[in-house]
Amino acid sequence: MNKATNKPQSTQRWTLEYPELGTAPLPLDPYLSPSYFEAMRDKVFKKVWLCTGKRVEEIPSPGDYVVFDLELTGASLIIVHGLDGIIRTHYNMCMHRANRLVHNERGSCKGRITCAFHGWSYGLDGKLAVATEEKMFFDLDKKSVSLISVATDVWNGFIFVNLDPQPKETLREYLGELWDMFAGYDFSALPASFSYSTELNSCWGVARDSQLEAYHVKYLHQRTAPGLMSYAEDPDRHALYFKLFRRHAVGSWYGLRSETGLPPVAKLAAKFGQTIGSEATSLSDVNQWPKALNPTRDKNWFFDEAYIFPNFHIVFLGLHAYIAHTFLPKMVNKSSWNARAYMPAPKTLVEQFSRESAKCGIRDLWLEDGSTIEVTQKNLDSGRFPHFHCQDQEIMIRHAVKVMDELIGAAP
Ligand code: FES
Ligand SMILES: [Fe+2]
Repeated sequence: MNKATNKPQSTQRWTLEYPELGTAPLPLDPYLSPSYFEAMRDKVFKKVWLCTGKRVEEIPSPGDYVVFDLELTGASLIIVHGLDGIIRTHYNMCMHRANRLVHNERGSCKGRITCAFHGWSYGLDGKLAVATEEKMFFDLDKKSVSLISVATDVWNGFIFVNLDPQPKETLREYLGELWDMFAGYDFSALPASFSYSTELNSCWGVARDSQLEAYHVKYLHQRTAPGLMSYAEDPDRHALYFKLFRRHAVGSWYGLRSETGLPPVAKLAAKFGQTIGSEATSLSDVNQWPKALNPTRDKNWFFDEAYIFPNFHIVFLGLHAYIAHTFLPKMVNKSSWNARAYMPAPKTLVEQFSRESAKCGIRDLWLEDGSTIEVTQKNLDSGRFPHFHCQDQEIMIRHAVKVMDELIGAAP
């Protein structure tokens, strides 16, 4: 074991440092109640900044677009790179008779967005450029017709939108301390390497919580991530660090990758390329890392997580690898999950082998996470489950529930 490891955290009780969180079990209303769901949709998802999970690198040239569907609100949004270089977001909705404008998930529209129904055409800034058979309309003031735009901003290359026609705060204000925190982390250098998406028969809260604690890693992932978070001499080894903000939260976790019980092939893959088992801290001096990454500078660091309320989780696996999870509610008992891994492109065959190993290894890990989500929902639906018990290591869940309660006015 590396001697630079900090002292065990088993006596630390992070939750007690935030007395406003309380320590009581968590009630089920935020997860199951239809009226809570509606309030969450109207007072949160239609009001706060949401990370789309899309990155600016996906739309590098004018005319390039990507679609973000927020089914919860019925909104299909086109995020488009303008001729002036500005990234804008418009409802994917023609202003003639509301037809959907683009049907592909992504593409390039070469300067105009044209409706297939009657041929109306819009500039990338959303202004109506052509109303076919214009003379046949009555009092149509073309200049006053534009696509309905949505507030858009970018943080570290991630595209955020805010459905509120008059957002109460800027993205910078909304992110608060997080805005500058990861300065120096070169997100743009890491391409999206692979991603998985799924629709879940579960409420959004259960899905979101599946990636808000690492308590489960030693247990649920004992086969896919064997030993990555356990240490025989100190089996209670827990998170190195948590910090909660007004809305968001970060955590940093311990892991002994050098003592991993990964099978030999996976160990080789971790050694020759980037996988979840790769020794991130031995690849570069942790003291040179951006301050927010591995904040305790522990050599036996496993990963950090930044939770950007309400729907975006970034899991940092090292200076050159991270995962982004986007969880979105659809209906009270349906949600979606997209997980993307960002890592350097493999340059050699051996690195390609590591990539394929990472793809399968991480997929299996997420399948294990997914295996708990829908069965949990079924049990909640039985009506016999009283409330969630949350231990100290599940503090980010407790915090997320409290922030949501506050925003919808349900906080005690
Ligand atoms: S609905 Fe788009 S042109 Fe008619
Ligand atoms: Fe997990």
